[in-house]
Formats: sequence, C-alpha cells, structure tokens
Amino acid sequence: MKTTISEVSKHVGKEVKIGVWLANKRSSGKIQFLQLRDGTGFIQGVIVKSEVSEEAWNQAKELTQESSFYVTGTVREDHRSPSGYELTVTDLSIIQIAQDYPITPKEHGTEFLMDHRHLWLRSNRQHAILRIRNEIIRATYQFFNDNGFIKIDPPILTGSSAEGTTDLFHTKYFDRDAYLSQSGQLYMEAAAMAFGKVFSFGPTFRAEKSKTRRHLIEFWMIEPEMAFTDHEESLEIQEQYVTFIVQSVLKNCQLELKALDRDTSKLEKIQAPFPRITYDEAIELLKEKGFDDIEWGEDFGAPHETAIAESFDKPVFITHYPTSIKAFYMKPDPNREEVVLCADLIAPEGYGEIIGGSQRIDDLELLEKRYEEHKLTDPAYEWYLELRKYGSVPHSGFGLGLERTVAWISGTEHVRETIPFPRLLNRIYP
Ligand code: 4AD
Ligand code: MG
Repeated sequence: MKTTISEVSKHVGKEVKIGVWLANKRSSGKIQFLQLRDGTGFIQGVIVKSEVSEEAWNQAKELTQESSFYVTGTVREDHRSPSGYELTVTDLSIIQIAQDYPITPKEHGTEFLMDHRHLWLRSNRQHAILRIRNEIIRATYQFFNDNGFIKIDPPILTGSSAEGTTDLFHTKYFDRDAYLSQSGQLYMEAAAMAFGKVFSFGPTFRAEKSKTRRHLIEFWMIEPEMAFTDHEESLEIQEQYVTFIVQSVLKNCQLELKALDRDTSKLEKIQAPFPRITYDEAIELLKEKGFDDIEWGEDFGAPHETAIAESFDKPVFITHYPTSIKAFYMKPDPNREEVVLCADLIAPEGYGEIIGGSQRIDDLELLEKRYEEHKLTDPAYEWYLELRKYGSVPHSGFGLGLERTVAWISGTEHVRETIPFPRLLNRIYP
C-alpha cells in the first residue's frame, strides 16, 4: 500500500510502499541502515542481507546520498527513533542514482549552504524550521477566521510609501513610477471601513541597507486592521493571536521542535496577558541596565530590545513612543501629545521586535497637518485622506513579521533560515 512517512503509524505491522530520497546511509557488512526522507518526514529503513533478494541488497548498496527510489517494507514501532517508527525493508526500486551531492553530512560554512539553498531545504533542520513556519501560517488563518476577520489582499505595486520613503523599492510602472509594498496598512484601513475587521498576509519589501540577523529585504507580514477598536483593545487581540500561534506550534510540531532542540518550557509560558511597559519606563530600565547615554526621543536598536526582553519571560509591549520617531498615521495620546498610542511587541530571548502597531489618526484636520509636517504631498495619498471624510471611526491595527516570529518560536538564530529563499542585502541567488 502506497503511503507517506507521516502516515506510517497507521500501518504498524503491515507492508507499505513509499517514494523516498536517501538522506544518509550506514552499513555494517550484512545490514544497511538507510536514513529515508519523503518530504513529510524522516524514517530509518533497515535492510538485512539474509532477508532480501540479492537484487534488492545490491540496489541498496548502490544508493548514493539523495538518490530517489520506491522502498517497500514493514512498519515497526521503535521507541529509540525520534519518529517512533522504523521500516524493515523488503524491496526497493531505484528511480535515479544521484550524482555527487554537494551537501554532505559534514559541516559546511553558511555562505556555501546559502549558495545551495535550493538543496539545503532538504536537510532535517531546514525541513523542521519551514514546517513550523507552515504551522504558524495555518494557525494565523485559523485565528483570524475564527475571530470574525476577513482576508483582504492589498496591492503589491503601489503609488506611495506607507512607512517612510527611505527604504522603498522603486520600479517602473509603464511610464510612471511605482514602489513595491512596504506595508499594506493604508489599504487595510480602507478595507476596515468597508468590512470592519480585516487581515492581510503578503510579501513586504524594504530596501534597507541592514545586515543584521533580523532583517530581510523581502519578508512576509500579517496586517490586521480593526474599525471601532482602540489601542488597548488592539493589544488584547495581539496577545491572544501570538499566544494562539505559539500554542499551536507546541501542539502540532513536537517532532520539529525536538529536531531543533528547542527549549519548549520557554514556549509553554507564552500565555496572554503579556506585560506592558511605556517607552518612558523602557528608558529607565535601559539606564538601570547600563545604557547610560540613551536619551528620551531616541529609537531603540537591537541591543536595547534584547536588554529589555531579558527582564521578561513573555513577549513585552513597549507602548507610547515619542511622536517624533513614529509613522505619520499614529494617533497622539490625547493626554500627552508628544507620545503616540502605539506599541512594539518585543519577543523574549533576544529575537527582537515581532509586531509594530498603533491606533490610527481618525481626525481629518490632524491627518492633514501631519501630511504637511512629513511633507507628504503625493497625490496618491488623497484617497487615504478621504477615509476621514466619510464616517471616520477610531481604528487600530498592527503588523506581525512572519520570519522573526518563526525565528523566535523555532529558536533559529538568523532570519535567513526562516524563509525558503531569503533575499538579503548581498544575495538574490538562488
Ligand atoms: O514595524 P513595522 O515597520 O510596521 C509596519 O509596517 C506597520 N505599517 C504595520 C501595521 O501597523 N499594519 O513592521 C512590522 C513588523 C516588524 O515588527 C517586524 O516583525 C517585521 O514587520 N519587519 C521585518 N522583518 C524582517 N525583515 C525586515 N526588514 C523587517 N522590517 C519589519
Ligand atoms: Mg517597527
């Protein structure tokens, strides 16, 4: 019966046939141990010379790393193996004997692995990280669908900037100029006025000259936007959403977390509510931690975020940043105009900011004033102002960066391993 490695538990004691690749092989004369993978998982196949045909034995001997074949064998429970199962091979039929595979079980440098990303994806570790990414995507759709949000797709090609003009990717749009989306937010605000609660999930482009372990040039962002929702209510949705994806990964990705040696006790603690500190308190905390020269009005960098996160074992919201360092659309705190009703959510363990969000300005005059201050004269913004003319309401939203979230939950040091084909400052291959 044809099946997959992920389904073998349903066939214990029975003979199955699986299309596989050879990940690795070990031999001790009369017995060969085949490390098999089929995309759904990994399993060890054991082939014993005295128990199979000479042809099957010789075919197994011929197998090189990454050779493809159909394997037939009996499923056995085996408590020593990570998956809990093993295959006693009875026969095999080769599809292709692979040429010398460049990625061997020995250690390779990062640049070499990145040059071979198209093959590196097959490794146990990459497989585990990207399956966790998939579970976060699945849980995201579930969370927002279950909570009354509808998915709206903002455009990728846009006529203006959403987050500031310094890191826009420029392209020609016939005889006009266009930019690749650096956030769908402004369009999501229009959608919230039409549908109430909406979310988007799409590729995002930032021509940032940053070469850190947290920055990609192309990444994926989830952007919910909610009408009749203030800053505080938005924070509650954020902590519920993040709790839901972490708990979903814990529930559905046990093998993957084990393959990555992730300390799951840290993830088990991730339950709403999350701690909240103001920007002012964060400045105080940083001073206590020895950042003597940080001054009110400065933005936080990675070392600051990491230092703040160390004081908490859950993600922490930093709220009420100075108006001067945040985007033009954020609503000022009515009690204190120099700060805005916003929050960044900082992941624990040094993974940095995973969410940026705020309540939006709903007042037409104030938004017009901000346009002038930020010198946003682009006619492409006109439609955005119109949203404040026809039934403007308090509304809030946020953006969660998928890759940083995957990095945190999977315990992966660098975001380049959390997306199938990373685009980095110096890399667009493969
Ligand atoms: O904080 P950001 O820039 O917020 C926005 O774009 C808002 N318009 C979102 C909204 O309110 N709808 O980006 C949001 C998140 C960050 O917290 C981070 O997780 C991720 O996107 N992010 C990046 N991830 C990888 N590489 C980069 N270069 C990133 N820039 C931002
Ligand atoms: Mg941000």
